[in-house]
Amino acid sequence: MIRSVVQGCGAYLPERVVTNADLAKKMDTSDEWIQQRTGIRQRHIAADGEFTSHLALKASEQALTHAGIKASDLDLIVLATATPDETFPATATRVQAELGMTRGAAFDVQAVCAGFVYGLSVADSLIKNGLASTALVIGAETFSRILDWEDRGTCVLFGDGAGAVVLRAEEGMGTSADRGVLANALHSDGRQHDILYVDGGPSSTRTTGLLRMEGKEVFKHAVVNMAAVVGEVLAKAGFETGDIDWLVPHQANKRIIDGTGRKLGLPPERVVVTVDRHANTSAASIPLALDVAVKDGRIKKGDLLLLEGIGGGLAWGASLVRW
Ligand code: ACO
Repeated sequence: MIRSVVQGCGAYLPERVVTNADLAKKMDTSDEWIQQRTGIRQRHIAADGEFTSHLALKASEQALTHAGIKASDLDLIVLATATPDETFPATATRVQAELGMTRGAAFDVQAVCAGFVYGLSVADSLIKNGLASTALVIGAETFSRILDWEDRGTCVLFGDGAGAVVLRAEEGMGTSADRGVLANALHSDGRQHDILYVDGGPSSTRTTGLLRMEGKEVFKHAVVNMAAVVGEVLAKAGFETGDIDWLVPHQANKRIIDGTGRKLGLPPERVVVTVDRHANTSAASIPLALDVAVKDGRIKKGDLLLLEGIGGGLAWGASLVRW
């Protein structure tokens, strides 16, 4: 039985850090308001001329080194982003070229903040079906480029960054002790378009557009859908909440993360939180959080991880991974 086993991870954050106090100098907001409502203290913002592919490349190089794998060993790159360098080709192909990978396939998936879980599920399926054997799954975003910096209700929430994992096909025993991706669950509900979207695009307006959000509505859907999809993916693999070593959630908002943790009955010590330092980096937030907890020694080989995310679409999903 083929399993997609995580061989390593990597991450990259742009150098420039913008604190809440920095934002308060430019707009009518405060550190207190932002921290109280979201838990965010700061975010990283890409430099002029620094694109999503540049962040993705740096995270990927780190992940390959951590995994002990050469770019020439890869036969698949799946890059999750809602902020590609260009409308086409896929940003993944830029990363492919920069890494010097000349075989296999590279493409983007677009599920906004659920993008990493979607990308992981797609790569896992291709590996299990024998279409790939060594894959790089990347979440990379430059959301700073699609924010309306005049809208204090949204622009304070997001940051830029990238994270990546390397997956490799390995024979498993088919037991719950196997390492690798154990189960995935994906959902979307296109009726919820209007609560979180970008008001532009190549086909509709021929502009890139800016992010629009009804925060309270998104909040309500997020907590309910997250708890449900976590239950679903656990049931699929025959586990219970108590079996989870680490919840690695999409980092949108500390209150959503706490709400989901409480609904699941998970103690805060088993939830990885980076939203305070990274803000919401959309598809990059889960692999960025993963990388922090792996590199600081909290996540260890054999731990059971639950990854979950929700974003525009609405689109949401969860993956259960034995590290
Ligand atoms: N600084 C100061 N005041 C602000 C700011 C700001 N940055 N933004 C809004 N306000 C004001 C509003 O103008 C409003 O003032 P008023 O009462 O005088 O009209 C007041 O604060 C309350 O505004 P609300 O929008 O009602 O604030 P709310 O309590 O809903 O918090 C927030 C807003 C943080 C966005 C919240 O709704 C939320 O967390 N939603 C979840 C959405 C989310 O995280 N989205 C991320 C993308 S989706 C995802 O990744 C899951």
